[in-house]
Amino acid sequence: MAQYDSFARFYDGVNGEPADRISQILAYIDEYRPSAHSVLELGCGTGAILAGLGSGFSLTGIDLSRAMLEVARRRCPSARLVEGDITSFDLGESFDVAICVYDTLNHVTDFALWRAVFANVAAHLVEGGLFIFDLNTLGRLRDLGDMAPWVYDFDGHTLIMDVDFADEPLSRWNIRVFEHQRDENFVQHAETILELGVALDEVRDALSADFTLVAQSDTLGATPTDHSVRALFVARRVAR
Ligand SMILES: C[S@@+](CC[C@H](N)C(=O)[O-])C[C@H]1O[C@@H](n2cnc3c(N)ncnc32)[C@H](O)[C@@H]1O
Repeated sequence: MAQYDSFARFYDGVNGEPADRISQILAYIDEYRPSAHSVLELGCGTGAILAGLGSGFSLTGIDLSRAMLEVARRRCPSARLVEGDITSFDLGESFDVAICVYDTLNHVTDFALWRAVFANVAAHLVEGGLFIFDLNTLGRLRDLGDMAPWVYDFDGHTLIMDVDFADEPLSRWNIRVFEHQRDENFVQHAETILELGVALDEVRDALSADFTLVAQSDTLGATPTDHSVRALFVARRVAR
């Protein structure tokens, strides 16, 4: 089983609708690539973002988890959905925009493979195409590691999540879902998700091989630092 396979059917109930992230992506496309027709999402998960981008684009998503893709097929039937690894894929076409959001890149736990993702994205973008991605920063992962477990009730079930960052820069997200049964019993589902923290200057440096940064922001609109809650980057593919 791939990561997220057992969590897939609870994912949207826990995360809700990503309306803010969708509007932010659409605003960046509008500002920096208004002529865009095609969008590729790396780590598209349940397809919530693709579905929200609307019918104005040809949509493609790639994800490792078959169970997440099954949800995505229902949510976004118009999208081409591919089971594959964002560190090594070849879709045989180029896109105007590639996105990789909700800390999906952090899920790649070896920084050498982040460089492989950047190279793959560059190979799948038209010249001048955009790569929009976000990250959990090292500071955010430290804060999460210091926090008490997060308990969240949703759809009659309960999620408990505890982030362990003792092995910095690798964080371990221990997720348990207690699924409520009709007879008042619960079935427990457990999953551990790994996320890598990387200093933002290393990320900017790795990007510079194929991209120029056109925008970068934290959650407050300022330039992101390693202490920001989240870092959002918009990079443009340069000519080869
Ligand atoms: C936090 S979820 C984000 C899903 C979606 N982008 C969203 O915003 O709701 C991360 C997704 O990335 C996928 N993923 C993680 N590592 C991957 C890899 N190496 N290749 C493809 N998909 C990957 C997981 O299966 C999961 O669906």
